Amino acid sequence: MKVNPTNERDYLLLGVMGDPIGHSKSPAMHNAAINALGLSGAYVPLHIRPQGLGDAIQAVKALGFRGVNVTIPHKVEVMKHLDVVDEGAQRIGAVNTIVNDNGKLTGYNTDGIGYVRSLKDEACPDLKGKRIVVIGAGGAARGIIYALLGEGPDKISIVNRTSAKALALAEEWSSLADLRGYGEERAGEALSDADVIINTTSVGMFPQVSELPIPPESIREGIVVSDLIYNPLKTELLRQGELRRCTVHGGLGMFINQGAYAFEYWTGLTAPVQAMKEAVLTSFR
Ligand code: ATR
Repeated sequence: MKVNPTNERDYLLLGVMGDPIGHSKSPAMHNAAINALGLSGAYVPLHIRPQGLGDAIQAVKALGFRGVNVTIPHKVEVMKHLDVVDEGAQRIGAVNTIVNDNGKLTGYNTDGIGYVRSLKDEACPDLKGKRIVVIGAGGAARGIIYALLGEGPDKISIVNRTSAKALALAEEWSSLADLRGYGEERAGEALSDADVIINTTSVGMFPQVSELPIPPESIREGIVVSDLIYNPLKTELLRQGELRRCTVHGGLGMFINQGAYAFEYWTGLTAPVQAMKEAVLTSFR
């Protein structure tokens, strides 16, 4: 069965749990997907506080939701309420998508794979043999690095303000690839032969739009510079990359594609990515 609603009326019930949740663009994006495919259903924002998370997950089953996204601050905590956690999500240590198969809840993480799909589509079709520098060593970096490992890069260097976290993450996955950790004071060294730079920190996000996560003079000419931030659509890091004739890639595509993977897990249908993107861009205006 392609679309697999869990309630009797073939109504595809989806949502997103977070705290806060009012700012989320996921409802606009997924409702656009539901409409574009002519499905009967809805994707609703669910304001769930941390103390209510367990009950909310039980309600997914009771109310017949086909699935939900989970966002800040629930991505780690939600794992203990699920029946199955996919291997990638386990390794990353966070879940952003839950699928309800007639009461059996499975957790996935589509952030990293969504990011990599977008990076390949929009900026760097082949990541094989590339020297990649990831700025940041938190949850977002974990998802992205895990997904990048499947692309056969030459090496991945992790640069972080707190060097111990970069070193620990490089060590944790050292059996999977050539991974190296650096403190931010050694950013220049890590960046000296980079082909792709990826910022996973919040440095440069609205309203601190003039901030940079690395010294701009350490960006090599003509490489790929990518930022997970999508507000603003073009961060100061990307602007600095453009000045050095780099191919730049913003965070909007990651957001769309993590949603596209989630939609595909819930429905078995190819996500209408263009309609989803238009809905998100409209919600910015
Ligand atoms: P996320 O899930 O968005 O990755 P996180 O797990 O809290 O959130 O991780 C945030 C990352 O951004 C960390 O790598 C953090 O660096 P520290 O480990 O040193 O805290 C980084 N970060 C956040 N604010 C930063 C800032 N102002 N300057 C440099 N790095 C920053």
